[in-house]
Amino acid sequence: MKVIVVGNGGREHAIAWKLSQSSLVEEVICVPGNGGTAFEDKCRNIDPEKCEYLDGIKGNDIYVKIAQENSCGLAVIGPENPLAEGLADSFWNAGIPTVGPKKMAAQLEASKDLAKSFMHKYNVACAKSRTFTEKEEALSYIHEQGAPIVIKADGLAAGKGVVVAKTVEEAEKAVNQLMDGEFVGDAGKKLVIEEYLRGTEISILSAVCVTKELSGQKKSCIVPFLSARDHKRLCDGAKGPNTGGMGAIAPVDDASPEILAQFEKSILAPTLKGLEEEGYDYRGFIFFGLMLTEDGPKCLEYNVRLGDPETQAVLPLMDFDFAALCASIADGSLADFNLTWKSGYQVAPVAVSGGYPRSYKKGFNIVIDEEKAKESSAKIFIAGAMENRRRRSPSDTKLVTNGGRVLACSAYGSTFDEAWKNAYSAMSCIKFTDMFYRKDIGLPGAAESN
Ligand code: AMP
Ligand code: GLY
Repeated sequence: MKVIVVGNGGREHAIAWKLSQSSLVEEVICVPGNGGTAFEDKCRNIDPEKCEYLDGIKGNDIYVKIAQENSCGLAVIGPENPLAEGLADSFWNAGIPTVGPKKMAAQLEASKDLAKSFMHKYNVACAKSRTFTEKEEALSYIHEQGAPIVIKADGLAAGKGVVVAKTVEEAEKAVNQLMDGEFVGDAGKKLVIEEYLRGTEISILSAVCVTKELSGQKKSCIVPFLSARDHKRLCDGAKGPNTGGMGAIAPVDDASPEILAQFEKSILAPTLKGLEEEGYDYRGFIFFGLMLTEDGPKCLEYNVRLGDPETQAVLPLMDFDFAALCASIADGSLADFNLTWKSGYQVAPVAVSGGYPRSYKKGFNIVIDEEKAKESSAKIFIAGAMENRRRRSPSDTKLVTNGGRVLACSAYGSTFDEAWKNAYSAMSCIKFTDMFYRKDIGLPGAAESN
């Protein structure tokens, strides 16, 4: 089977790498892919801008045409934006089995208002909230509730649409800025204002199969993966600005069996019921962003995809055929799929370009001491780096930086300490100008908590 993977981040490198290890997979077509997938076994990047057969073809049809030209029998969609734009619908309409929810279900991430209405309707454990489209009403609700309080733009805002306000003044300012379109444009015209939850966060990525098309013995289900934790702040000790993720670990020891049982009962099960009752076609992955509070886990958000960088920590621990799992999601047999996991831990710190998450320079050579890196047995997942096609001098490397989050070193250990040492020993084999990374991923005090 040939598989098309849509996206260009570290998550998509991990997905393509894991798919390529399957004996079921002949080739992985990465669109557009990145500098990591460019050098991965069985993987091939396709840049739509360079395909003559795409002349005059627009939007989702570009991906469908590439899949058809390359005889792909399965599609895996990485990021949220193409899902919200209905790429899964387009693939299915063209007869290509797909991993990723259809457009209607993808709105669970694209609209915070929809997600919260869904959670309240189906009794998913979550923070109390209300939605506003009128500024005066939002401001008077804030005065009534007091601070701390959380203000969220309704639409997709690439992580910039949430303000955790410690004071009423901060909350007022956030409402004004979000509703006036200063932060996130139209995404902030509608706001969800939410009760502030105290606790620490974890991520539970899961496989989902819910569709009216199931027949016979096939059952809908959500199957959780191992727990994981992202570290979103730029600096050690969970300080500094928010980023897209500075590193991940899996599994998370403070997600005890009791907490996971509570999660299944008060979050996963009602979510499954809701997906079924709403009649969604959701064959893909769902990411539960959870806050572990004194009153048990609460659902902060749904993402309709795998997390980045959680995927880079979770996929290497899979002790089953990931391509077979993806096929079972698409063909409705997920409920019968047996997921087994390596015991032990995975730690995946991320190296970023100096200046990120604000402005940063691109185009630096990435020097990797491959021999030394191999000793740590870490896998280097590339995100913001591209193949250097214009290598002129011997000092030019295979890869050059072209994004904020450049790569993750994901390493295994039978204990957390061993995984941690392996990951950071791999990181010490990598150099690029202005490279920056956190030194405390997974250590006490590194997790965001409030
Ligand atoms: P979201 O995009 O909804 O996950 O929000 C982004 C981040 O804001 C989360 O990862 C939390 O760190 C924080 N956050 C969101 N909602 C709350 C809440 N109700 N209470 C405290 N922190 C929150
Ligand atoms: N790691 C958080 C996310 O993927 O949204």
